[in-house]
Amino acid sequence: MIGTGYVGLVSGSCLADFGNAVACVDINEETIATLKKGGIPIYEPGLKEMVTRNVQSGRLTFTTDVEDAVKNSEVVFIAVGTPSRPDGSSDLSYVFDVAETIAKHLNGYKVIVQKSTVPVGTTREVAVLISEKAPEDTDFDIVANPEFLREGSAVEDFLRPNRVIIGVESTRAEEIMKKVYRPLYLLETPVVITTLETAELTKHASNAFLATKISFINEIAAISELVGANIDDVAKGMGLDGRIGSKFLHAGVGFGGSCLPKDIASLHHLSVSKGYEPRVIRAILELNREQASRAVAKLKDELGSLGGKTIGVLGLSFKPNTDDVREAPSIRIIEALLAEKANVRVFDPVAMENFKQTDLNVVRCKNPYDTAEGCHGLMLVTEWNEFRQLDIPRLKELMKEPVFVDCRNVYRPERWVEHGFRYRSFGRGIVKRSS
Ligand SMILES: NC(=O)c1ccc[n+]([C@@H]2O[C@H](COP(=O)([O-])OP(=O)(O)OC[C@H]3O[C@@H](n4cnc5c(N)ncnc54)[C@H](O)[C@@H]3O)[C@@H](O)[C@H]2O)c1
Repeated sequence: MIGTGYVGLVSGSCLADFGNAVACVDINEETIATLKKGGIPIYEPGLKEMVTRNVQSGRLTFTTDVEDAVKNSEVVFIAVGTPSRPDGSSDLSYVFDVAETIAKHLNGYKVIVQKSTVPVGTTREVAVLISEKAPEDTDFDIVANPEFLREGSAVEDFLRPNRVIIGVESTRAEEIMKKVYRPLYLLETPVVITTLETAELTKHASNAFLATKISFINEIAAISELVGANIDDVAKGMGLDGRIGSKFLHAGVGFGGSCLPKDIASLHHLSVSKGYEPRVIRAILELNREQASRAVAKLKDELGSLGGKTIGVLGLSFKPNTDDVREAPSIRIIEALLAEKANVRVFDPVAMENFKQTDLNVVRCKNPYDTAEGCHGLMLVTEWNEFRQLDIPRLKELMKEPVFVDCRNVYRPERWVEHGFRYRSFGRGIVKRSS
């Protein structure tokens, strides 16, 4: 498994749990040193137990020695990052670097599996590059096997996926992939065997569709505010329709993370480069970008100018149960607050360390109450469980002004209003205290 980040470490340890012998490789020496000492470099529920169990069984090892790992493997997974470039296209340099390294160390037949999320056509390009650079008389097959795990429930998702997508064009490689995923076959997990391009597009299309649901419900939330409807009930009523489904219909500050924004931008870029301007996909991104300013506008509605005011932000990771802050809505919100010359106090149960990398000028606090101290407004940005039962009277005591913006529609508005708060959320109108 080349690349031992969120996907590589989870996939590698779970594949070891399936009974395979797995070497997780990374160029980041610190990551490998931490793992060798029994530490886990990322926050992911259940991962430590999974890693420990498989290291103890001898099926899971960690190394920076890519040559040794490639030479001793029958199947080589590529699970490195594919971040966005400023124009929305995917930066594939890590993928191609790894492809070259694999080619150099090829010593006999291997299956090379693209697990990184890549634009359609990349896996075939990787195959061409490897054929060009590999020693003569070596043989390999290429497979596109995109990953669908969600950070926060990644181990469970990998062990019990809704489906496995395998783009493969040789029966030999298909049989080997079936062996790698054997326990999932026994669980009768649906497996779609298809072409490389179809597998790649299935991943991007799935993410684009999930994001469409989020941006769609956010648009309906904006309409709800104008017409006096309640978005929670609208979403519930819609979600009960089996054709629609209730998941990903939660109005709020929008999506973030290391996948949806970059994958959708990449799909948009690819489509435009092939001569088709995808309108739905473009709109998803535009709507999502607006959500942070909508949240800040709600705060300004209550407080007027934010210049010199102190605002608390609860939750920095892009969603609960992860320490990942890549493309997190919290960052867009904090940037907007700082641009308004507000002072910002922040707290997150696990993402404080990762958030330091943003270099945003904020005060880091110890808990929600420390954050609220002296604030004119408090914003709930990531719906961690520990923010679902806040002590509202205590917060009121600590704050200069009782203004709460619930960017995830976690609370019933009445709970805050009855304690004298001005409470704002998405798509639910403004509830006033009855006199
Ligand atoms: N994070 C998710 O939830 C998720 C879910 C599905 C798919 N994906 C996709 O999986 C891929 C990996 O994502 P991630 O979140 O795990 O990224 P990540 O940044 O957490 O991990 C990537 C790892 O690859 C390592 N790396 C880079 N170049 C290397 C090289 N030449 N040799 C060895 N290691 C190298 C990095 O040091 C890093 O540890 C991306 O394409 C992403 O879109 C991510």
